[in-house]
Amino acid sequence: MKQSQAVYENLYDEAETMRNQFAEDVLNGLSLPRKRLPCKYIYDNVGTELFSRIMTLREYYPARCEAEILETYGKYLAEKFKEGPVNLIELGAGDGRKTRILIEDLINAGSTFTYVPLDISQAAVHECANQLCLSFPELQVKGMVSDYFDGLKWLSRQDQSKNVALFLGSTIGNFSPRNRRKFLNKLRRSLNPGDMVLIGFDLVKDIDVMVRAYNDSQGITAQFNKNILARINRELGGTFKLDGFRYFSTWDAISGGIQSFLVSKKSQKAHIESLSKTFEFESWEAIHTESSHKFTLPQIRKMASDSGFEIAGQYLDSRHYFADCLWQVV
Ligand code: AVI
Repeated sequence: MKQSQAVYENLYDEAETMRNQFAEDVLNGLSLPRKRLPCKYIYDNVGTELFSRIMTLREYYPARCEAEILETYGKYLAEKFKEGPVNLIELGAGDGRKTRILIEDLINAGSTFTYVPLDISQAAVHECANQLCLSFPELQVKGMVSDYFDGLKWLSRQDQSKNVALFLGSTIGNFSPRNRRKFLNKLRRSLNPGDMVLIGFDLVKDIDVMVRAYNDSQGITAQFNKNILARINRELGGTFKLDGFRYFSTWDAISGGIQSFLVSKKSQKAHIESLSKTFEFESWEAIHTESSHKFTLPQIRKMASDSGFEIAGQYLDSRHYFADCLWQVV
């Protein structure tokens, strides 16, 4: 069979936007009385590779739970999505590993659909599209290098296809509550009535299970978080000594999430060349690097109705650790 070729749309000047924004966000975050760095900057090539390793760790249950859900309900979801033509759009597709199961089920259900990996990273979109074209020669792939919402709006205007947007892996848990509300409202406005979204939510569970998932025995999650300092060193000419910081993460019952930090082990300074600025760290002063919120089912239902979606389905793994929720635009 002939090898399928992906087509691409590029709505985003990744290099230019990222370079300026990274420096500005580092300056703002490290100038706060309680220092913080946005977790999205952990994901350069090194961070993305470390995250792929996290997903295979024994302690990191979310990836396996979501795979179980898609394996169990993929055929059923494929039946729901199959009234074509459909754009199956994945927001932040990564390597597309999670979605393979669903793609295979849609192909087997005889659906006419185009898979659209959408990401601001051109490298991620190309890698994902190429891998999937290799695995599924009959698959139509349209890679979109774009901001999520510009991409969805653009797509909704281009053709008459129904859109099914996937936002898997509990990435929604990494947003602050305010940004989560903004994201869901914008997501709904970027889609047409009848379109659907499938969102992955990590559920609140035994605290030990959640804490272990972010404190793996091989220290990969620590390396992953420290990559934000390593990236400042690489791209902004920083002088951070990674050994001078300890990764610390804990369950916070007030915010309802795992909160992760890099804690300075001693009083120290780090200079950042491209900001022409030196930052001081007291001993045991923390930099907040990541929030990983966990949700209850009633909270998820409220999020759907608050943002104008109707609930079309809710799929859990056998241990009820994780939920993939199907919402429809009314
Ligand atoms: C991508 N995101 C949902 C992961 C999480 O669980 O918050 C990132 C991660 N951080 C540490 N381990 C995994």
